[in-house]
Amino acid sequence: MSEFLLELRNIVKEFSGVKALNGVTLTVKPGEVVSLCGENGSGKSTLMKVVSGVWPHGSYSGEIIFDGRHLEAKGIRDSEAVGIAIIHQELALVKEMTVLENIFLGNEITHWGRLNTEAMFKRTQELLKRVQLDINPDTPLKELGVGQQQLVEIAKALNKNARLLILDEPTSSLTEREIELLLEIVRQLRREGISCVYISHKLNEVLALSDRVTVIRDGELIGTCDADSLTQNDIIQMMVGRELDQLFPREAHPIGDVILEVNRAYACKPGASRPQVDDISFNLRKGEILGIAGLVGSGRTELMQCLFGCYEGESRVDITLHGRKLNITNSREALGAGIAMVPEDRKRHGIVPIMSVGRNMTLSKLDFYSRWVSGVNEQAEYVDVLDYIRRLTVKTASTELAIKNLSGGNQQKVILAKLLMTEPEVLILDEPTRGIDVGAKYEIYKLMYELVNQGMSIIMVSSELPEVLGISDRVLVMHEGRLKGEFDHRGLTQEMIMDCAIAEEIRSHD
Ligand SMILES: Nc1ncnc2c1ncn2[C@@H]1O[C@H](COP(=O)(O)OP(=O)(O)OP(=O)(O)O)[C@@H](O)[C@H]1O
Ligand SMILES: [Mg+2]
Repeated sequence: MSEFLLELRNIVKEFSGVKALNGVTLTVKPGEVVSLCGENGSGKSTLMKVVSGVWPHGSYSGEIIFDGRHLEAKGIRDSEAVGIAIIHQELALVKEMTVLENIFLGNEITHWGRLNTEAMFKRTQELLKRVQLDINPDTPLKELGVGQQQLVEIAKALNKNARLLILDEPTSSLTEREIELLLEIVRQLRREGISCVYISHKLNEVLALSDRVTVIRDGELIGTCDADSLTQNDIIQMMVGRELDQLFPREAHPIGDVILEVNRAYACKPGASRPQVDDISFNLRKGEILGIAGLVGSGRTELMQCLFGCYEGESRVDITLHGRKLNITNSREALGAGIAMVPEDRKRHGIVPIMSVGRNMTLSKLDFYSRWVSGVNEQAEYVDVLDYIRRLTVKTASTELAIKNLSGGNQQKVILAKLLMTEPEVLILDEPTRGIDVGAKYEIYKLMYELVNQGMSIIMVSSELPEVLGISDRVLVMHEGRLKGEFDHRGLTQEMIMDCAIAEEIRSHD
């Protein structure tokens, strides 16, 4: 009997002649956490889709041995039946349903042909307890934050008696505290003998959690090592094939006069007991990178939505750009006025999944390409698309590929390209490097400096404190819809930000 619960041998997977995986081998022992690392587009999600039957047997070559038997899954159901559960990079729960309905979707408990609601309710309570989620099973999913939804996904996997849990970038949208909780739950599951394949670009998590680390690059296996013997730099080197001497390429750059003034921003959902954004005023200088920190739910995203005219609910704000008062009621007007935003929830606000990579980039600029011709000047469009694919190193087989086929990180780059194409004066980035690998992050930071050097101003919302500290010139901290502090980046520490983000009293620093 093999010592492994899961053994992947020599997996090769092609997409229309392009090899996304080229002979990858990976093993997981019972009760072991193995992290899978690699750059954006290196094939991590594809490999896990092979394991979980999303890509069925026959669509790849190589062998999968699970629990001593060949697994030749025709679909997800087959892999679930043997105890493999996958939580995909983009959450797949149904927002309109309750927690209970989501957990039992397609798996309902019935009694004499009728739904046994009572049994399902009880079972859901037990499952929620296991993932330390203190909510009512009948809570509509859309009322939960991303972190809580993630835990519901895990509860759902546990309900299927998973023996191997695959987590594809589970923490990319979570706060520090939620991440701690998630890691703790994975550790608890490991103690119960459940194995885990963990995919993350956050190498500190990878090292804190895993027993072994497997690294792939461009679909090829680079190696597998015991986590104990590795440093973050070792992993980076294996991932990118070279050492990155620093993670944050801070550059001195000129900061000019105030160009944007935001006064008394307010945003509230209908029927809510308190506003999500409550009387916030701040300004932004030319060439400045302004970081916005705070816990998830502190109102950072909603504040940005106010500025960009896409808040769903009641909002008011006075915005002055270059001394000119703006009246922004939708995103189109915001873009027209020179304010662009890369949204947090890319699946909902960022991309049109079935449209090509190229067209997703040029969507906000189509007017421009059809200015002198009837229809769209595809030649000019193509030239620009290629330019941005090169500048942001977007990994795609062609400009015509449907964007949903791009890896998560590369989709993010396309969204960024789309906004940059509108040549805004103020660029709002809401979690700009979420799901982006260390090498590409570095490229994005460098690009941000290039943009501010050209005179653009950037507002960056980020939950990653090292990023906030490493990139911003100035940092605002929000807490429960209010502005709690303002800091210059010099001398600023993570502790100071956290202190402020959870503090009760209003402070003002400079
Ligand atoms: N359905 C598909 N059709 C065509 N190409 C695809 C498809 N799915 C994935 N690819 C390609 O396979 C490669 C690997 O993608 P994959 O999603 O596995 O990367 P990843 O390592 O998970 O990256 P990320 O860290 O960005 O999530 C990419 O180049 C991607 O464009
Ligand atoms: Mg992926």
